[in-house]
Amino acid sequence: MIFPEYRARRLRKTEGLRSLLQETRLSVKDFVYPLFVFPGKGKQEISSMPGIYRLGLEDLAGEIQEIDQRGIPAVILFGLPRVKDAVGSEAFKEKGIIQQAIQAIKAQKSRLTVICDLCLCEYTDHGHCGKMENGELDNDATLEILGEVAVAQARAGADMVAPSGMIDGQVQSIREALDEHGFEGIPIMAYSAKYASAFYGPFRDAAQSAPQFGDRKSYQMDPPNVREALREIQLDIDEGADIVMIKPALAYLDVIARARMEFNHPIAAYNVSGEYSMIEAAARAGFIERERAIMEVLTAIKRAGADIIISYYAKEMAQVLEK
Ligand code: PBG
Repeated sequence: MIFPEYRARRLRKTEGLRSLLQETRLSVKDFVYPLFVFPGKGKQEISSMPGIYRLGLEDLAGEIQEIDQRGIPAVILFGLPRVKDAVGSEAFKEKGIIQQAIQAIKAQKSRLTVICDLCLCEYTDHGHCGKMENGELDNDATLEILGEVAVAQARAGADMVAPSGMIDGQVQSIREALDEHGFEGIPIMAYSAKYASAFYGPFRDAAQSAPQFGDRKSYQMDPPNVREALREIQLDIDEGADIVMIKPALAYLDVIARARMEFNHPIAAYNVSGEYSMIEAAARAGFIERERAIMEVLTAIKRAGADIIISYYAKEMAQVLEK
């Protein structure tokens, strides 16, 4: 049947019809909320991410309770260490900031799943994601350190680890290290296709993790590539990843859609800092309608095929979405 017998607009006529026919529905259960934790007290608003705060370890409890009460199923933790060094030791110390944060959250008996970002860039004084050798990232030496970080996080009580450094072999090394220490039940959510993106700018301000020299282009992916992303995802699955991630989300919706078609593993997408700040800045300038824009982009990420959405909007979305 074609026009004039078939009229597509018939099904868009009322709010009720549109709601009945909505193909993609966001739920609070889709979301993971990122948290930045520093040693000490209080909270500091991140200047490039209005509305998002770094939280003091000692004042984490209230925030955790609120996130849990809003029905968000998980948080992903990023740490701001007291001291940084060449190998990022605070990432694997028993009393490192993340280990303490996990313990503090777990002591509270919330329902939250605690995921830990697993990378060295917040902990190294040079800001790169691994051990450096003559100005270059030493891939295989970094693997050992990442294994230690994973074990330290698991010992502290992490429910899941999320390696984000794009180091070759990291999923395999981390899986081996976890299994060797009796943590075979801890899943790995791998940042599998992580692009060298301008959209991480505000995060590096939030986590104080900008590289002190050079850039991350020799380990993170080149934005024009999609087949390479599929290879990276395949490698991570072969190495034992339980969930694969694509990051950033918005400029890479095609990558999410392709991955959804090719793989049956759960897919996470990271709606990154720059994607958040872009909406906030445009809304402040009066250029776009903030709430509609947020709903539209998050729905698009799910429509593209993401099962899990990591977003700075998680807390706010929890208040607007049906439970
Ligand atoms: C690395 C890491 C980064 C982000 C998450 N994990 C930054 C980077 O690779 O520079 C970015 C997240 C965001 O922009 O919101 N530990």
